[in-house]
Amino acid sequence: MWWKRTLSSSYRCYLGRRRSGAKIWRCLTRATCSAPALPAGQITALQALDVWKRHFVENGVTEPEQSSQYIIAHLLGAKTIESVEQQRLAALLSKEETQQVWRLCSKRLSRMPVQFIIEEWDFRDLTLKMRPPVFIPRPETEELVELVLTDLQKHPGSGMAPPTCLEVGCGSGAISLSLLKSLPQLEAFALERSQDAVDLSQENASRLGLQDRLKVYHMDVIKDAEKMPGLFSSISVLVSNPPYLFSEDMATLEPEISRFEDRAALDGGEDGLNVIRQILTLAPDVLSNRGRVYLEVDPRHPALIHRWVEDNVEELRFVETRQDVSGKPRFCILQKEESHKAPEVDQD
Ligand SMILES: C[S@@+](CC[C@H](N)C(=O)[O-])C[C@H]1O[C@@H](n2cnc3c(N)ncnc32)[C@H](O)[C@@H]1O
Repeated sequence: MWWKRTLSSSYRCYLGRRRSGAKIWRCLTRATCSAPALPAGQITALQALDVWKRHFVENGVTEPEQSSQYIIAHLLGAKTIESVEQQRLAALLSKEETQQVWRLCSKRLSRMPVQFIIEEWDFRDLTLKMRPPVFIPRPETEELVELVLTDLQKHPGSGMAPPTCLEVGCGSGAISLSLLKSLPQLEAFALERSQDAVDLSQENASRLGLQDRLKVYHMDVIKDAEKMPGLFSSISVLVSNPPYLFSEDMATLEPEISRFEDRAALDGGEDGLNVIRQILTLAPDVLSNRGRVYLEVDPRHPALIHRWVEDNVEELRFVETRQDVSGKPRFCILQKEESHKAPEVDQD
């Protein structure tokens, strides 16, 4: 049986939810709440699950049941609690195992995301290493990968050369590594401004045996813009889940995000478009003719992007907006079209 880890709500979402209650407020303003006392005698995994679920609920920790389940399953060597044998769950934990449960669950009490506590997470059919402050891949981004794969099958490109992909802002490597895993012919390049993320994506590539097909550059797509056309050309797919939050929304983030993830991975500037505009400006210089751009964006962005590209990037055509599973306009597809304008003649 194949088990995949997912978290259904809360800190995978960007915007914080309001809660009430003095105790919860204290826990959000202080870095940590105190853990329940270590049990005097031995307890079972089922009892530990119950103690911690209740403690998370009392302290306003989001997804209390799933948090305790994923952490304890991980300590028992499994991905999910459903995949642990009932007998093991009902057996007494050793003293060391109980101490480990308390140590890891206390991290969750400080609102550290489960993914950072257990140091790994699933993305499509991959298990990736996770480490703060590198951005934890969100479920919407699995849909972005699916969209690129389906589109590439429909429009495999014109030439005989194998397809190439350039990702801007690869984080843990989730998008590029997923595409490489599904497309054995693909060669991928990624650029990333954070050294932590460069290191983690390279580590993930090696763990998956994909290091020979992914080249990661420690570069900033805005500051190092002039170097890009010299490094990349005839790219078939330019893909990105860029920082796209509006700066004013940064104040409303869940503590899981604001305390543990890199701010620069999320903040897209006043209108959320700082990195997106740069990607779109760069696109015609690095894409092959009819090469495509795939972006994950804020639902307010597609109309803005459509207008901005029409006004500012002659060789790029806005193809369409796609919705995510919750029906929000989430993905933009654009295509390079060679300009048919006659070259300007020098009058002198
Ligand atoms: C929203 S995260 C996405 C990470 C990964 N692609 C994913 O989907 O999980 C955005 C990433 O872009 C990187 N980034 C932000 N600004 C950048 C820039 N100017 N140049 C290159 N990378 C940038 C961040 O460090 C971060 O890793």
